[in-house]
Amino acid sequence: MRISRSFPVDKFVIRGGARLKGKVVISGSKNAGLALMPATILAGGLSVLENVPHLRDIATMGKLLEVMGIGVEMKGHTLSIDTSNVNKFEAPYEHVKKMRASIYVLGPLIARYGYAKVSLPGGCAWGPRPVNLHIEGIRKLGANIEIREGYIIARAKKLHGANIAFDVSSVGATGNIMMAAVLARGTTIIENAAIEPEIIALAGFLTKMGAYIKGIGTTRLEIEGIDSLHPANDVLIPDRIEAGTFLTAAAITHGTITLLNANPLHLSAVIAKLESAGAEFTIAENSITIRCPKNIMPVDVMTAVYPGFPTDMQAQWMALMTIAKGSAVITDSIYLDRFKHVAELTRLGANIELLKNSAVVKGVKKLTGAKVMSTDLRASASLVLAGLVAEGTTEVLRVYHLDRGYESLEKNLKSLGADIKRVAGKEY
Ligand code: EPZ
Repeated sequence: MRISRSFPVDKFVIRGGARLKGKVVISGSKNAGLALMPATILAGGLSVLENVPHLRDIATMGKLLEVMGIGVEMKGHTLSIDTSNVNKFEAPYEHVKKMRASIYVLGPLIARYGYAKVSLPGGCAWGPRPVNLHIEGIRKLGANIEIREGYIIARAKKLHGANIAFDVSSVGATGNIMMAAVLARGTTIIENAAIEPEIIALAGFLTKMGAYIKGIGTTRLEIEGIDSLHPANDVLIPDRIEAGTFLTAAAITHGTITLLNANPLHLSAVIAKLESAGAEFTIAENSITIRCPKNIMPVDVMTAVYPGFPTDMQAQWMALMTIAKGSAVITDSIYLDRFKHVAELTRLGANIELLKNSAVVKGVKKLTGAKVMSTDLRASASLVLAGLVAEGTTEVLRVYHLDRGYESLEKNLKSLGADIKRVAGKEY
């Protein structure tokens, strides 16, 4: 099946009250897939990625690669990528505006072809989300970069090794610079590298392609550039944010569920916070069972880089805290204004006061169903979680935001006992 699919402007209609019970299989990681797909540009030939989720963002990345002359074929959850005939070295605004992860093609293109023209990412539901660390890093590796008409235009005869120290820990910048450095002449040191599991997965895939990377899993990477790499195959790690979202769904509905194909080691901060809120766990190598009591206790959270509590779980945690037995403070130290979900949760009866990048959430006895609007991927997940427990009917509009990062969310929740259905909207 060709990877491109249209995504309708649907809504979810949820009747709250069901306690979730049963098993759910966790999909492959969106953010690992969005890094490994462009990494295939670094070598010519056929690479095969397995456990690839059917998501809008994966489809968007696939379409971007196709525009560059790359063959992209999805069969089930197996994605074949043929980079034998890359003939365009650009990421047009039309693609980048849909998904900022498109900037991941910058490093591989400049490393392998000496040229890249990549649109600056547009705005996001929250921000600012600058890309200065990506640009400065590629420049330090020897590329000539100009910013013209909203595009990053990078040229380099041959990149050379450099010592790069990130002021801020950045997943995307770490990934981009790592992909550029593996084909540079000489050694590159990256200090303050991100150590998110998706970056470790990318470093593992590059190593399979023949790259020399030392310090994988630490904040100091040492990359010995080589002349060429070869294609490789890999299996995507489980999506830790999808897993965390389901664990939170169990907690908010006082249910008992088991996640299969999940990696508990990637979720230690989330599991610790859920235990503090009163949940009990049975942990196995690649499954997690959570049992949740009637009363959820309030637990403060401050997001941090891995292995801290992920910013991508902040909105979901806030939904849970709206019905806790007391007040909790939720601070996002990564994105200071990632709070578009506050106004929508308030429409469901939540009591939340926003003070700069901290939200004081006072637990209420119950939420009441209403129409609410999705604004971004994780905010929408937060509204679905609240709808699972709100009295009456909740309609979550514009679920194409959810389709970016959750495969068949409503089917999975329905199989766990939720009263949820997708109502088709006009084509999007
Ligand atoms: C990745 O985005 C994820 N996306 C995001 O997940 C996630 O929220 C984020 O990491 C943080 O964990 C993908 O992996 C595709 P960053 P990224 O660069 O790489 C600042 C989701 O829901 N920064 O680690 O864009 C930035 O402003 C998505 O799946 C700079 O200052 O995030 C932020 O404060 C949403 N300059 C901090 O670093 C730069 O050049 C972390 O951002 C780059 C980033």
